[in-house]
Amino acid sequence: MGLFGVLPFLLVSCITFLLILIRRRDATKGKLPPGPTPLPLLGNLLQLDVRNIIKSFQKLQEQYGSVFTVYMGSRPIVVLCGYGTIKEALIDNAETFGGRGLIVSVDEAIRDYGVATTNGERWRQLRRFSLKTLRNLGMGKRSIEERIQEEAQFLVEALRKTEGHPFDPTIHLSHAVSNVICSVVFGQRFEYEDKQFVFLLEVINKCFWELLSTSSQMKNFFPRLMRILPGPHQKMPKYVKELINFVSQRVQIHRESFDPNCPRDFIDCFLAKMEQEKENPTSEFHNENLDVTVLHLFFAGTESVNTTLRYGLLILLRYPEIEAKVQEEIDRVIGRNRSPSLEDRSQMPFTDAVIHEIQRFIDLSPVPPPRSVTCDTHFRGFSIPKGTAVVPFLSSSLHDPQHFETPRKFNPRHFLDERGSFKNNEAFLPFSAGKRVCLGEGLARTELFLFFTAVLQNFHLESLQKREEIDISPDVRGSSKLPRPYNLCVVPR
Ligand code: HEM
Ligand SMILES: *[C@@H]1O[C@H](CO)[C@@H](O)[C@H](O)[C@H]1NC(C)=O
Repeated sequence: MGLFGVLPFLLVSCITFLLILIRRRDATKGKLPPGPTPLPLLGNLLQLDVRNIIKSFQKLQEQYGSVFTVYMGSRPIVVLCGYGTIKEALIDNAETFGGRGLIVSVDEAIRDYGVATTNGERWRQLRRFSLKTLRNLGMGKRSIEERIQEEAQFLVEALRKTEGHPFDPTIHLSHAVSNVICSVVFGQRFEYEDKQFVFLLEVINKCFWELLSTSSQMKNFFPRLMRILPGPHQKMPKYVKELINFVSQRVQIHRESFDPNCPRDFIDCFLAKMEQEKENPTSEFHNENLDVTVLHLFFAGTESVNTTLRYGLLILLRYPEIEAKVQEEIDRVIGRNRSPSLEDRSQMPFTDAVIHEIQRFIDLSPVPPPRSVTCDTHFRGFSIPKGTAVVPFLSSSLHDPQHFETPRKFNPRHFLDERGSFKNNEAFLPFSAGKRVCLGEGLARTELFLFFTAVLQNFHLESLQKREEIDISPDVRGSSKLPRPYNLCVVPR
């Protein structure tokens, strides 16, 4: 045999050998849920559409049922589908399914610290502290609600300046939602033109597009290879460093004017906790956890609300009769002369239902960051070894035909009973569920209610297109869904 005869032979035997190895490993580990057969190293790369993971998961759900396994490179990921399955894992077995899996796309510099990406005692301490602080315990005189109300009025003023001309609402909404997080963590909002603020948003914006890129998705399959391959994903560490610098400068400024008796914001509360635990050598309250937790709040808390508001306004352009009904309710309950407050929500079932339906329909986080199981576990007849990544396919719960009458259609009646009262739906899980449920759920829901009502109280929305031509289907990027770009006019009412 010449050289060219040997090479293919070697290749084939290597692959066979690796396949046997993989099978063996699976056999000794017990049986993971079924799924497409992985290739060595590549895993299921060839069976998954990296640019539309959502569609791939839908197909696999049809083929394999409500629990299946896919291999991202050599890592198995167990995917849970449908409300029943997700609930049984995340809620009924909360402790077991309460770990955080490796989020490959998050830069290493901000993975081992902070509340969203860690596990064990570190996560427990930071989670308890952050929840308590966001619930307003000891956040000084100004409640989070007031901070959002203030920002909503700035948003209304910025929209007024468009004077009825068509514009893309992206920037306005982006400014408003990031200012809410700024107000909560830094104790101050920024003017929309402020240089530092604009810089901060630019870096966040670059990270955002970077995370949606195909090269970022490929990182899930080949984390080590992608680390050395050149490409746009290599810029991430630089952005992250810039953000960390920004935050630590702010922390320094806080230190200089810090008064433990009068915490102004999240950073002050964290500094107070550091002070309190300074004799404890294993305390989790130190600089690294402070900086990174603040960044996690920014990443998790701006894009999500930003996109929900922008998508929501587009949906209302498509359904002007729904906009009109919300406005009728606003006029009846709030009137035109005062700002909306959270207390109004319980008297506004239709508006509440519309906001829920927006969140359900847009399905913002169809494939959320992975969980992991904290011990070897049996689930629905399969064995899942400790540490295995688990993804609740939230999209499949939000579109579960057993829980929603018209899952693919925008329909606020999903959240209303016959008498028009608000009706919750257990399959409504846009924030996920269980131990790792979104930390900012309360904050996010407050923002959505106050921003939507403030805008609709003041303006009528007008589209440049015929309503039938407005496309409210998502622009799917990797594992995210975005609204298609659009312009609108806002006309004072
Ligand atoms: C519409 C808005 C939002 C949506 C749809 C959303 C959705 C989610 C989802 C699906 C998760 C993953 C939960 C899991 O692992 O099962 C999550 C986690 C998280 N969210 Fe949100 N989120 C939103 C707004 C916010 C806001 C405003 C904040 C800021 C305070 C925030 C902070 C976090 C944090 C820190 C985590 C990680 C929690 C942990 O690992 O313990 N989110 N969010
Ligand atoms: C808001 O969304 C737009 C468009 O997706 C994005 O470019 C921008 O960076 C987002 N802003 C924030 C603060 O997340």
